Amino acid sequence: MTLSESIPFSKDFLFRQFFDAVSCTYTYLLADITQRQAVLIDPVIEWADRDATIIKELNLELIYALNTHMHADHITGTGKLKTLVPGCKSVISRSSGARADLLLDPEDRVQFGRHILVACPTPGHTEGCVTYVCKEQGIAFTGDTLLIRGCGRTDFQGGSPRALYNSVHSVIFTLPENYRLYPAHDYYGRTVTTVAEERAYNPRLTKPLDEFVRIMENLNLAYPKMIDKAVPANRVCGIYELMDKEAEEKKH
Ligand SMILES: [Fe+2]
Repeated sequence: MTLSESIPFSKDFLFRQFFDAVSCTYTYLLADITQRQAVLIDPVIEWADRDATIIKELNLELIYALNTHMHADHITGTGKLKTLVPGCKSVISRSSGARADLLLDPEDRVQFGRHILVACPTPGHTEGCVTYVCKEQGIAFTGDTLLIRGCGRTDFQGGSPRALYNSVHSVIFTLPENYRLYPAHDYYGRTVTTVAEERAYNPRLTKPLDEFVRIMENLNLAYPKMIDKAVPANRVCGIYELMDKEAEEKKH
């Protein structure tokens, strides 16, 4: 494949990628360096203190904690971050069915400083999955819709292999080929990919639709370990778990 140059980040754009080794989740901190407004994408509850500390040290104002979808493998950090960082609002798509301060409709824009993320619906892994696209920086946060050389499972939470295939081909693969793609997870130590790379080498999404559906229907994956705990908590953006813990602590 030919390699095309990525768009360099603007001088006033801060980008940090964090990792949770338990669920192999990536959390992203983005900020406008001049205006100091920041957003977090897909925070994990166990790392909310870490995230809040870094945000404080960098003298940033966290205005939104966003989720790409209602996760089944970890509890979102948005609920806890709201208690640690007053003024921070939780954000998720309206179609996720979850509760949040801000529910996004298709193509809604999330602004921090002068920077903008556009919420593009990419259902398939779950009904309410979105990909957040930052055009100026040439980057997109694909959640579990598209992983590096893979994709999220489609057998829970209103998942549909046909919908996922359509989302990837009509939304993500139509982005400029030099766009960098940042997934919600990676299990092999990789951190980033590009539209061109996935169009060429994604072993599932390069297949014709019917073959893709067959692959997804025959993955025989284990029942997600965390799903019964994570989904009810994430439906209320992680608050459920906090209330539970508080109730527990009062008992002792
Ligand atoms: Fe997921």
